[in-house]
Amino acid sequence: MTGSPSALQVVDGIDLSGKVCVITGASSGLGRESARALAAAGAHVVLAARNQEALSQAAQWIAGEVPGAMTSTVRLDLTALASVRAAASAIRSITPVIDVLMNNAGVMFTPFGRTRDGFEMQIGTNHFGHFELTRLLILQLAAAGNARIVTLSSGGHVMGDVDFDDPNWEHREYDKFVAYGASKTANILHVVEADRRLRDLGIRAYAVHPGTVATSLARYMSRSDFSQLREMAAASTAGRGEPTDSFLDITTPEHGAATQVWAAVSPELADRGGVYLEDCAISEAVAPYARDEQRAADFWALSETFCAAP
Ligand SMILES: NC(=O)c1ccc[n+]([C@@H]2O[C@H](COP(=O)([O-])OP(=O)(O)OC[C@H]3O[C@@H](n4cnc5c(N)ncnc54)[C@H](OP(=O)(O)O)[C@@H]3O)[C@@H](O)[C@H]2O)c1
Repeated sequence: MTGSPSALQVVDGIDLSGKVCVITGASSGLGRESARALAAAGAHVVLAARNQEALSQAAQWIAGEVPGAMTSTVRLDLTALASVRAAASAIRSITPVIDVLMNNAGVMFTPFGRTRDGFEMQIGTNHFGHFELTRLLILQLAAAGNARIVTLSSGGHVMGDVDFDDPNWEHREYDKFVAYGASKTANILHVVEADRRLRDLGIRAYAVHPGTVATSLARYMSRSDFSQLREMAAASTAGRGEPTDSFLDITTPEHGAATQVWAAVSPELADRGGVYLEDCAISEAVAPYARDEQRAADFWALSETFCAAP
């Protein structure tokens, strides 16, 4: 394994007593590991995900790992805005103040499908659901005085940009790789504009690439998908002398969760925001279309329109 820190090492010496962290997709993988680390630092962690039994198991696992851990669970299905609104209301009834909102849940390379509200499944789950959840928790984040929104993106955002004319794949043949890339680009655009709009409320936002981590995220991938990804990586790095298969440097959730936990707690980020993080540092490895401030503002407006309650 690498010499990179684990999520637990990142919180070493950090005291989060009295702080509240909300984590989506906390029932497995990076979300569950982040929850363990933040609970170990003393935070009250609100675990949100769609499967109540998996949530209860995650809470029990954390209780076993972190004696005295404070956790709550909330049902949240990002594929239905009605569920997102109910979850936001449940979270508000648990806590009037949120110090960290970690938009972590996600799906990757799903076959074509639509959410309850008609969004394409990947951008609907990974972006629109989180956009609405974040919007509904802004007052609670502002109440912290010094809050952070940490949104999981991916280096895979380079596989696709958001098509502003067709974000939900109504007029093109579906490509699951480009659709995942677009959803992860959407995550970065959301962070860029959230940071600009909310920093005066004491809320800063960060996008995170966790590396390639062995989790359940690859559940929709076939062998041929791995080969295709390797070919795409080779084509994109051809002639640049870079390793073609660095995405196959697979790490564990314990280490993979380090950057998102660092985004949540690091004093080094106190006066920074709207940035893309990788390996517990600010990274410049962001596609120009994902960091463009005007596009981020336009995409916020588009997301507001799409998520507007009927
Ligand atoms: N692992 C990697 O290599 C990697 C690389 C780059 C970026 N990321 C990003 O990291 C984040 C976490 O992924 P992971 O690797 O930890 O994957 P994971 O183990 O599959 O965890 C994903 C979590 O999201 C939840 N989720 C999925 N759909 C949901 C929905 N509709 N509503 C609510 N929760 C939902 C899952 O719950 P269920 O179990 O019920 O589905 C699970 O708790 C994702 O945003 C992913 O894009 C991961």
